[in-house]
Amino acid sequence: MEKLIIKGASKLNGEVVISGAKNSSLPILAATILAEGTYHIGNIPALRDINTMFKLLENVGVSSEFKNNSAVINNKNTDSFEAPYELVKTMRASIVMLGPLVAKKGKAKVSLPGGCAIGERPVDLHIAALEKMGAKIEVKDGYIFAECEKLQGTEIVFDKVTVTGTENIMMAASLSSGTTILKNAAQEPEVQDLAAFLRKMGADIEGDGTNTIIIKGKEKLHSADHSIMPDRIEAGTFLCAVAGVGGDIILKKCPVKSMDAIIEKLRLAGLQVNIIDDETIHAKMDGEIKAVDVKTAPYPAFPTDMQAQFMAVMLKSNGVSVINESIFENRFMHVPELKRMGADITLNDSNAVVKGVHSFSGAHVMASDLRASAGLVIAALMADNESTVHRIYHLDRGYEGFEVKLNKLGANIVRASDNE
Ligand code: EPZ
Repeated sequence: MEKLIIKGASKLNGEVVISGAKNSSLPILAATILAEGTYHIGNIPALRDINTMFKLLENVGVSSEFKNNSAVINNKNTDSFEAPYELVKTMRASIVMLGPLVAKKGKAKVSLPGGCAIGERPVDLHIAALEKMGAKIEVKDGYIFAECEKLQGTEIVFDKVTVTGTENIMMAASLSSGTTILKNAAQEPEVQDLAAFLRKMGADIEGDGTNTIIIKGKEKLHSADHSIMPDRIEAGTFLCAVAGVGGDIILKKCPVKSMDAIIEKLRLAGLQVNIIDDETIHAKMDGEIKAVDVKTAPYPAFPTDMQAQFMAVMLKSNGVSVINESIFENRFMHVPELKRMGADITLNDSNAVVKGVHSFSGAHVMASDLRASAGLVIAALMADNESTVHRIYHLDRGYEGFEVKLNKLGANIVRASDNE
């Protein structure tokens, strides 16, 4: 295992280039199951989860060569259709294999993703939707077994907004007969990026980015090329970092248009945000941090994936901030660690009440999940003296060279092996 040793109180200045979005790359890579042929996909971030997805694809006859953030993908369409436990247990998002496998191969055997630190993470809505499209699904021995000669288009209303659920059904419906109308669909930018890729593959999809998506099924799709959209959560994480420690940074290759809620909340917290153009943001922080309340909710509202990072900024605010986590039942794992650094946070149900303190000390802290670890890194940058963040494999799942990019902005972070 590895750890990050982080010196506190260093301002951030300079330029940072944002990588491609993990949560757009994963469903788009899964979509290559839907059609034989060769694909060229660029701006893919080099992350653990991406490597896991390449292994899962290899398992079902889709090979890939990945270098310099670009992949050449070859779907030779073998008849294997399994996403095995040993891979799925490391990455819940493997569930996005289910829809494409059933649609393309008529059957799928996908390990139940199981929960993770932030919650139980059920996939009942994915399963119910595919059953409504005609799939015969059995869940046993920790696996989802799905079979269907040909999926039928139908109307589906999701009880809850589910990002990967929306993505699974959009992919499955693209290669089915008839029309699928998906209501209460997720509107996330990553869902829109997937829809754009599926249209390049010949899919007929309208309404992505709204809560109603209409997919007219096709007999066949074909391979296509694509460049993954930039990662709005990585960009938001850097905005939180500079808001927390102060400084003056330029973010390049940023998905500015999909960051309204993040920018709005950080402006209220005192960050000066200047939109230079569609993919460049100039952010400056040289005053006090103002306390701001936040409630996480599906896009276009404030993203749950930014909750831990924003909480770190609020640790030194000039007042009291109430942070409401409405998406996941256990996404405050960073709170006990932040309190060990001297933060003043009280939890009640889905609310974290953060009382700003003037300063807090560095400490040894333990990462628990991807975005919690990003929040801990920001808090460590804000702390006095030195902190060590352990188990940073969580961080490596979703941030490409995070400490390298921060050090280029003036931080002082060392990655070391951890025999803890
Ligand atoms: C996606 O997860 C993201 N992952 C998550 O990002 C993100 O936090 C989440 O959407 C919410 O925005 C990827 O895109 C790979 P959901 P997903 O289905 O699709 C409940 C990160 O840090 N639900 O939108 O798994 C669920 O329990 C990760 O990059 C059901 O009840 O999330 C949750 O309360 C973490 N039944 C809510 O819906 C279902 O069948 C939203 O979950 C599906 C979901």
